[in-house]
Amino acid sequence: MRDADFSEDATPDLTLTLRLGETPVAAAVGDSVLVALRRAATGIRCICGGRCACGTCRVRIAEAWQACLPPPARNEARLLAALPGTTGAHRLACQITLDTTLDGLAIEIDSPPTRSTKTSSLETTE
Ligand code: FES
Repeated sequence: MRDADFSEDATPDLTLTLRLGETPVAAAVGDSVLVALRRAATGIRCICGGRCACGTCRVRIAEAWQACLPPPARNEARLLAALPGTTGAHRLACQITLDTTLDGLAIEIDSPPTRSTKTSSLETTE
């Protein structure tokens, strides 16, 4: 399945900046973090198109910013808990809506490993 394509979205008025590691990423109030990162061609994955169903858009929030975000909704929390390697620093980029209080939000893309949909005859299943 291909990742959703946000490349044809119009470029918004730029009103805030995310920090992807050391790289500034322009974003607009009302965007999700996912939309901002896709628009900036960061390579973040989003197999479900931002519907909180795949977990491929997982990001790690810098410690200083974690308390600035509202807690994850039940669907997001449930999906995060099912992803390998998730810690309390992780969120789904598609579920974070940007507002002016998040100007400078510092994140890292941390997509979980994807499972192969095929199982060879040499692999065992759990
Ligand atoms: S894009 Fe699928 S959960 Fe965020």
